[in-house]
Amino acid sequence: MSKQPEVDADRLLASVADFATIGATPAGGVNRQALSLEDRAARRLLAERALARGFTVFQDDIANLFIRREGRATALPPLLIGSHLDSQPTGGRFDGALGTLSAFEVLEALADAGIETERAVEVVAFTNEEGSRYSPGCMGSMAFAGVGTTSDWASTLATDGAQLADELATTLAALPEAVVRPIGHAISAFVELHIEQGPILEQEDVPIGVVTAVQGTKWLEVVFSGVAAHAGTTPLEFRKDPMSAAAAAIASLQSSVMPADPEARLTVGRIAAEPGSINVIPRSVTFTVDIRHPDAATLAAIDQQVREECTAVGARWNCDVTISQRVDMTPGRFSPSMTETIEEACNALGLKSRQMVSGAFHDALFVSRLAPTAMIFVPCRNGISHNEAEFVTDTHMISGARVLLKVVESLAIIGQTV
Ligand code: GLV
Ligand code: MN
Ligand code: MN
Repeated sequence: MSKQPEVDADRLLASVADFATIGATPAGGVNRQALSLEDRAARRLLAERALARGFTVFQDDIANLFIRREGRATALPPLLIGSHLDSQPTGGRFDGALGTLSAFEVLEALADAGIETERAVEVVAFTNEEGSRYSPGCMGSMAFAGVGTTSDWASTLATDGAQLADELATTLAALPEAVVRPIGHAISAFVELHIEQGPILEQEDVPIGVVTAVQGTKWLEVVFSGVAAHAGTTPLEFRKDPMSAAAAAIASLQSSVMPADPEARLTVGRIAAEPGSINVIPRSVTFTVDIRHPDAATLAAIDQQVREECTAVGARWNCDVTISQRVDMTPGRFSPSMTETIEEACNALGLKSRQMVSGAFHDALFVSRLAPTAMIFVPCRNGISHNEAEFVTDTHMISGARVLLKVVESLAIIGQTV
């Protein structure tokens, strides 16, 4: 006998707390970077919980982890829900984990209520969404959507020097219970729940964001090369100092790009000097540039501006410049029928919602190339994310999971085609 499925609020909150202990940092966040020991421990815990509930666990060659609860029509493509379990080095406990664990809660709620869905429902934890330890981000969802392959990134080195192919092999081998299956199987639709990572929902006191689009992102790596020399003996006219060039380029970009366009974002998040000694003018300075914009043409124009400015500054400081692209994500739009389904779920639950564009990129951006996709956002305190202080109230977590469950009911139970 089936009954109405219900989110078990205590179980969901306990699950978020349990996973927050894996890679926990002293300041209350997590360090669970892609394909690390901590990432493996989180995958193991989820897989063990899945197997204990009688669900099937799969992984593909990039270690995307899938948990399947079978439906009546086994041949129908499954409905996919989920997010990621990896984190930034000083990440919060909700970015990615909340979406993955809410999706797992939905599977458990369906099982508790004895619901037989028309099509199977699968929870996914995509590999390396963050892109911090290994660039680019969204590797798992890109490979799933056929935008790249595991072999494209096999020789990529982590920020700690470990090669992706090795870490991937160890991660896959650490979960022998998972059935290995070919990457990129057909799905009927994808729904990803995530924290907003910005301030709008909290400011407007709206519990649910219905994401209609994701802005574009480009990541560049800029290397200024000069001549290593003695800090005390080298006069200005003899210097080819890449640090001065990098500082000038960054200052110029920061004072021009964002002030000219309120929708533009430009961030230099990582910088390294070689050899990195206090009394040596560096041989080279390498820094990353993360640029974002909702409009593809404007994003391309900012990319061009960054290249031109760095080239001009390099010439002024007698340094060579090389610029390489690490990520190129064009802006994406989600399926209107999917966003409508989410809005209907909010209405049915009496929860206010508003449409919004995501400033962060997400796995859903790539999965939307395969199947109708949309995202559910919940508010986070002060809009803070990619920070250990990231915080979501219990009420917002529970509301988000209830909306996800309602959406799954309409997309999987009656086998609705979108
Ligand atoms: C995702 O982590 C992003 O940087 O947008
Ligand atoms: Mn995320
Ligand atoms: Mn993130």
